[in-house]
Amino acid sequence: MTGSLIILTGAGISADSGLATFRDADGMWSKFNWQDLATPEAFARDPQQVHAFYNARRAQLSDVAPNDAHRALAKLERDWMAAGGQFLLVTQNVDDLHERSGSKNLIHMHGELTKMRCVHCDYVDVAFEALSTDLPCLNCRRADVLRPDIVWFGEMPMQMDMIMEALESCTLFAAIGTSGTVYPAAGFADLARQAGARCVEINLDATDISTGFDECLTGRASDTVPNWVAGLCETTP
Ligand code: APR
Repeated sequence: MTGSLIILTGAGISADSGLATFRDADGMWSKFNWQDLATPEAFARDPQQVHAFYNARRAQLSDVAPNDAHRALAKLERDWMAAGGQFLLVTQNVDDLHERSGSKNLIHMHGELTKMRCVHCDYVDVAFEALSTDLPCLNCRRADVLRPDIVWFGEMPMQMDMIMEALESCTLFAAIGTSGTVYPAAGFADLARQAGARCVEINLDATDISTGFDECLTGRASDTVPNWVAGLCETTP
């Protein structure tokens, strides 16, 4: 268990915890119009509608729990780093299930449902209650300046410098539960392969980027990920 392991997760890893994915038949974007809810323009047009969408998703977090896939990745991080390897978990998910299962070396490249950000002074804090345009920023005290700390379509994902630097020295890359339709995350496997990494895809079904992987494991993440982690711990020196 040496070398640099990078894992990218998407909505599919949280599906078995009861959180909707985005592009499955019953996914979020089949019920809601992302152009009205997940863009800076939508927030400027109707902030209360956007707040209501994220407030409902944030409230749902207290009704769900990590599943065996989240727990397996937290164990893999501990074992991999205890053996002297480098480990980074990059998630596109904005839920808090990776943290709640014990993952530490974690980047939320699309932001976090549990946080809020002031558009005036950039203050970030825990969104301890439902957000609204009436709630003042705790730092600059202005009203009508708080937004969900979420990366919307058209915005730059978070901590990309750290992610790109890690991909340059990656030896093993796994993409779990992501459709591979949204860049830059959908291009991470190509970058890892260019660095000489072995690339593994774990998904319910094949995706548009499956051909770019050395190995594709299909099935529900809460089944396939613990099995993959167990196999990795047995076979990797
Ligand atoms: N186990 C494993 N994979 C699953 C499961 C499951 N139980 N259920 C669904 N999947 C797979 C689907 O087959 C699909 O390939 O998870 C993937 C989910 O794809 P999307 O819904 O597109 O979610 P994601 O790839 O995370 O979307 C990326 O798009 O809308 C934006 O910001 C949003 O972060 C999100 C980004």
